[in-house]
Amino acid sequence: MTNLKNILINKISCKSIWFMRQAGRYLPEFREIRKKNKNFINLCLNSELSSEITMQPIKRFNLDSAIIFSDILMTPYALGQSITFKKDEGPKLSEFKLDVLMSNNIENFTEKLNPVYKAIGMTRKKLKKDKSLICFIGAPWTLIIYMLGLKTDNNKLDLDKYKRFKKEINEILLELSHYLCAHIENQINAGADVVQIFDSWAGLIPEKDIKDFCYTPNKKIVDFCKNKKIATICFPKGLKENYEFFNNFVKPDGINLDSDIDPLWARQKLKNVVLQGGLNPKILFKSNQDILEAATIYINAFKDIPYIFNLGHGLLPETDPVKVKLLINFYRNYNE
Ligand code: CP3
Repeated sequence: MTNLKNILINKISCKSIWFMRQAGRYLPEFREIRKKNKNFINLCLNSELSSEITMQPIKRFNLDSAIIFSDILMTPYALGQSITFKKDEGPKLSEFKLDVLMSNNIENFTEKLNPVYKAIGMTRKKLKKDKSLICFIGAPWTLIIYMLGLKTDNNKLDLDKYKRFKKEINEILLELSHYLCAHIENQINAGADVVQIFDSWAGLIPEKDIKDFCYTPNKKIVDFCKNKKIATICFPKGLKENYEFFNNFVKPDGINLDSDIDPLWARQKLKNVVLQGGLNPKILFKSNQDILEAATIYINAFKDIPYIFNLGHGLLPETDPVKVKLLINFYRNYNE
């Protein structure tokens, strides 16, 4: 059995499957714990529960990799912004203050996130040796979207705010990447062996700014990881054909496709990288036959090249775990 890190570093072609948001609200065993823990950030800071939740989808489905139960917003939290999650509204952060951000240091940051590192250590002990433990961060731009509230309610870029904050964004990007690299290194030292970098809102950046706000900050972090021999998977969601430039410029070990990317286009254009994901998570609301047909397209498109089965975005809360099981069994039993 080859684990995810080995597939990424050595570009090995073999079956491997995990899902973004594999630990979450679609699982009754998660909802049970969540019901008793109303504050989401505090739940992420409860090492025992975080580790237990991380293991839930492994126990249920025996997936090939675990992803630590935490959130990309733990970074702004540790840097001094308070965060609340209102039902159906998404996260709300307290007003951003540059002087608060600048008053941090790596020691106080690490101290605040210690429970996450402890959860990783506990989970590594529970996890079989042949399974990877994935840690993650939000890319600087995606964190800034939340930190500065740059998104409108219908998920568009708030252009007025964007223009007002533009000068500050550069400064915040630089400062954040320093802490994000520390967060990656701390998670790896605690026992994780792969990092996924979520740039979930890369698709909102105006074309002329993509280099400054997406390619360059992602490359800095990937270069940091390469130096430390840490395996990376990037997810620059929404970039469309710019996925090609991103891949050539940033050169991560792996790249997660979103559901807008045509798998055959990806196969042709994205070279020297392990491909991951792509299947639309909404397909899991459809009939078994629809699910298996859609999965077959991805399996066939990437047969004989290194490909990690996953989705084009996280599993949705309304997903039936029975459908998830169906998809996993189908993938594992598929004879290419
Ligand atoms: O299983 C896993 O993938 C690990 C856990 C994980 C969570 N968040 C737990 C979570 C991961 C990898 C994330 C990443 C994350 N968080 C991203 C990047 C991926 C993406 O979805 O684009 C982003 C943008 C966030 C920020 C965030 N956290 C939002 C927008 C929300 C609310 C809306 C939503 O999708 O639930 C969260 C809360 C959150 N993070 C939940 C979970 C399980 C739900 C919390 C709840 O129980 O109410």
